[in-house]
Amino acid sequence: MSCPLPNHLSLQFARFQNCTETTPMAGKKIICVIGATGNQGGSVARRFLQDPRFTVRAITRDPASAKAQGLKVLGAEVVQAELDDVATLEVAFQGANVIFSVTQYWEPFFRPDCRAKAAELGISCRRYAYDVEYRQGKNIADAAASVVSTLDDNGFLVSTLSHANKSSGGAFTELYHFDAKADVFPGYVADKYPALAAKMSCIHTGYFMTSYQILPGSYFNKQSDGSYQMRFATAEDRPVPHLDVTSDTGNFVYAVSQMPPGKDYMAAGSTVGFGEYIKLWGKATGVPVSYKQVTFEEQVADSGDPDLGVEVTHMFVYSDSPGYDGGMNLITAEDLRKAGIDCPMTSLEEWISKQDWSGILAQ
Ligand SMILES: NC(=O)c1ccc[n+]([C@@H]2O[C@H](COP(=O)([O-])OP(=O)(O)OC[C@H]3O[C@@H](n4cnc5c(N)ncnc54)[C@H](OP(=O)(O)O)[C@@H]3O)[C@@H](O)[C@H]2O)c1
Repeated sequence: MSCPLPNHLSLQFARFQNCTETTPMAGKKIICVIGATGNQGGSVARRFLQDPRFTVRAITRDPASAKAQGLKVLGAEVVQAELDDVATLEVAFQGANVIFSVTQYWEPFFRPDCRAKAAELGISCRRYAYDVEYRQGKNIADAAASVVSTLDDNGFLVSTLSHANKSSGGAFTELYHFDAKADVFPGYVADKYPALAAKMSCIHTGYFMTSYQILPGSYFNKQSDGSYQMRFATAEDRPVPHLDVTSDTGNFVYAVSQMPPGKDYMAAGSTVGFGEYIKLWGKATGVPVSYKQVTFEEQVADSGDPDLGVEVTHMFVYSDSPGYDGGMNLITAEDLRKAGIDCPMTSLEEWISKQDWSGILAQ
């Protein structure tokens, strides 16, 4: 890579050269993928690796990890960067035509050392994780702004969620994992970096279909008669978006990259109520099922961890009204297909039929 670097970046660039596994091919576009070893970023990296016009630069804290090495085998460059260190991001983004951004609320929420720090600070782990996610999102935006001139017109593709506090007129003041994202994407970017905001697309992601693993007591609660009950604080028939995150995030983001910038999207393969979800699950597994709309307190109790319970139950109530998307008019996969852009997505029914449910059914 021969692009000149500002002096303050030269040291990090040396690190970048050390970590880069392959050199970008001349004439290829570079997509930098944050979180490339994770669910969303991994899906995006794999999708763009299928397009020979792109070099995929996979960003990770640990280039030696098995997941990072797996991406290298698939043809990605693997580059070390830390979301808490903006200088490493500025280096990793050098020459980028496209940046895919994702931030992770749940790692600082669950990590024992983060819980200890939150306790030291006298704040909840929920608030602590908000602060980390917000700070890391800002770092991504600051670093992306430093390379805005090389980005494509629609070159800043960010994973985000709706702003619960604003969308609800102040009714939801502590849905932290929504507002930490929305406060930066689009909030901070629009306020601080108009030129970057002009190249941004905001991609909201639906409920991951895999989320039952985090909340088994709410998704599939075994009853004394042997049936399974789904129990959320959301009305049974309130439609919510569902996403096969590892298979479909890449397809969706790849489709969005073919659109003009400045639009807001919802990545989902199905938009159906949880009542429909449990019926589909019962049909696929052959077991009797039911749905119960529970109270806030009941859902918290089902979660097994009060902090997790409170954080997610706010989301399930918010999903009821004003809605998971905050009432925004978001562009869907169907809209993209109508615009002539290929955007294959997995329906909830298809996804359920492909899972191994023996672990849940053995309970
Ligand atoms: N569960 C749901 O239903 C749902 C629905 C919508 C949105 N979400 C949101 O999805 C987000 C998580 O996305 P995901 O599932 O794709 O996450 P993930 O699988 O945990 O991946 C997160 C990635 O971020 C990277 N990362 C984390 N901290 C980093 C740091 N300090 N510096 C550099 N890289 C870092 C990690 O890479 P390395 O470890 O390799 O460094 C990892 O690959 C959360 O914020 C959540 O709120 C979840």
